[in-house]
Amino acid sequence: MGAVFPGTFDPFTNGHLDIAERAARIFGEVTVAVVDSPRLKTFFSVDERVEQVKSACKNISQVKIESFSGLLVDYLKERNEIVIVRGLRAVSDYEYEIQMALMNKSLSQEVETCFLAAREVNSFVSSSLVKNVWLAGGKIDHLVPELVLADLSKHRLSKEKEEI
Ligand code: COA
Repeated sequence: MGAVFPGTFDPFTNGHLDIAERAARIFGEVTVAVVDSPRLKTFFSVDERVEQVKSACKNISQVKIESFSGLLVDYLKERNEIVIVRGLRAVSDYEYEIQMALMNKSLSQEVETCFLAAREVNSFVSSSLVKNVWLAGGKIDHLVPELVLADLSKHRLSKEKEEI
């Protein structure tokens, strides 16, 4: 039995990578599913986010990467999967996560959400925080995979060019 680890991953962080690695060890195979929603105003395009996850997970053979749109439970059904994996960093994540888990259960009874406790070292890491720190000139290379860092620099360069 495999599992699906869904998220916006805008961007994928070392915290996400840790969850993907551990989920692969538990479930044998994990699909990191990058949401592609026109309603989401993301910093990175879906193609960029998929490439970032692919690059970060390149050495983990049991991890597959896909994008999906529409309902997560429909995506699971199409793939014949029933397990959703999500990371929990702190009590503050719980409310949002339990709501999603219960909503998904109400939409599809066979779906189970499994939570993995984030490692302490990643407990403060979030996608928006790393972007904010980076945009303010802070150092985040210990928090995100290499390609994310490269993509952030690319965005900064193109922004600087636009401003000239
Ligand atoms: N390490 C680091 N950061 C983590 C983390 C971990 N282990 N676990 C969560 N986070 C952070 C992320 O960095 C992100 O931070 P931010 O809010 O500051 O940007 C936040 O928690 C959550 O982002 P992410 O992990 O990318 O997931 P998400 O909450 O954006 O994902 C979907 C939501 C995609 C799973 C959900 O919207 C979905 O299923 N959409 C499809 C449509 C659908 O079915 N909707 C109904 C769902 S009930």
